[in-house]
Amino acid sequence: MRVLVTGAAGRVGANMVKRLVTSGADVRAMILPGDPHRPKLDAFPAVDVVEADLGDQRAIDHACRDVTHVVHLAAQLIRGDTPVDRFYDVNALGTLRLLEGVLRSSAKPERFVLASSDGTYRPGRPPEWPLRERSRQEPADHYGTSKLLGEVILRNHAAQFDIPYSIVRFATVVSPEEAGTMFRLSFWRAVLGWQALGRNSHLWPLFDGQPNLVKLFDEQAGHAAPDTAVGLRDPDLQPWTMSLLDVRDAVEGVYRALTEPGAVGHAFNLAERTPSRHDQAATVISEMYGVPKLMVTMPIRHRLELSIDSAIGRIGFWPERDFRGMVRDGLRADADYVCAQSTSGVASIWDRNTGSAAAT
Ligand SMILES: NC(=O)c1ccc[n+]([C@@H]2O[C@H](COP(=O)([O-])OP(=O)(O)OC[C@H]3O[C@@H](n4cnc5c(N)ncnc54)[C@H](O)[C@@H]3O)[C@@H](O)[C@H]2O)c1
Repeated sequence: MRVLVTGAAGRVGANMVKRLVTSGADVRAMILPGDPHRPKLDAFPAVDVVEADLGDQRAIDHACRDVTHVVHLAAQLIRGDTPVDRFYDVNALGTLRLLEGVLRSSAKPERFVLASSDGTYRPGRPPEWPLRERSRQEPADHYGTSKLLGEVILRNHAAQFDIPYSIVRFATVVSPEEAGTMFRLSFWRAVLGWQALGRNSHLWPLFDGQPNLVKLFDEQAGHAAPDTAVGLRDPDLQPWTMSLLDVRDAVEGVYRALTEPGAVGHAFNLAERTPSRHDQAATVISEMYGVPKLMVTMPIRHRLELSIDSAIGRIGFWPERDFRGMVRDGLRADADYVCAQSTSGVASIWDRNTGSAAAT
């Protein structure tokens, strides 16, 4: 198969390229012109690297020539300073332009896989738990809405032009070297600091109507060191929960969506097997880094849990790593993955939601 991977220098993209090269596929890697993370792809000399912005139809057409399979990972992720129309231009219209490019290619499209997000289920106030593929998708933020529009545009094109497609909805994707920065005091202070972004934050529904969460957090944890292991819990002392996804498992799930016949026409949640509980994740950080652990009580309950039953049953997805495994592998010297920050240190788990606003 001749595969085009968009967002190929990204957290998931570079690992997807590695996975495809290992499987013997003919890979073209599409990257944003001038992407500082391009050197991540230097390890794969057989890969054809092309520069194309998802806003540039001509460049996209060039990138799509002769490809039979597409893994569409490129996206505008959440950053506090992103103009709202950019989410729609890149994630919705960019997907449309890519589909048009695929149709203009001389080869018949055999599979188009779109990376979507748990953000399409309104992460600040999920409609139910666990979230299943049929759960209500009413994102109520610009990123989630633009990703959902990408899904709708793909479905429409697939129906009109007979494109075999599959959609994967990732939980929070973690590259192992990033895992050790999570469930720390500095991490949660930054996340809660998104409240200052107001309606530009995808967690707005979570913050809305609440008192100043950063102040509440600092009243309980402000005395502790920034690297302290911290989990959040609700007023009944029940820990918050969130589904995570090791980048290597994300790539395995996408590979199955790309190659399994049973994937065609379906959307799949991809996440770790059991959602991470904040108390347990903070314990992992505390034990593995030898730092004290704190639980901080918030006035709200939060559970963002994805069911992966459909991916297990239909495409044989079986994620191998939980949060402990991610942290453990992040501490190993012999990484079997491409680090998210392997070039300039720009990309990090923080980028997903805050960009420079919360970088520490
Ligand atoms: N990281 C997560 O936690 C997470 C969670 C759910 C879904 N996703 C989805 O997974 C996919 C991959 O995410 P990631 O973590 O690898 O993100 P990333 O930011 O590391 O990679 C995204 C890539 O898209 C490229 N890109 C951005 N705008 C572009 C444009 N206009 N034209 C061409 N390329 C452009 C960037 O240069 C970057 O390399 C995305 O579609 C994202 O929406 C990610």
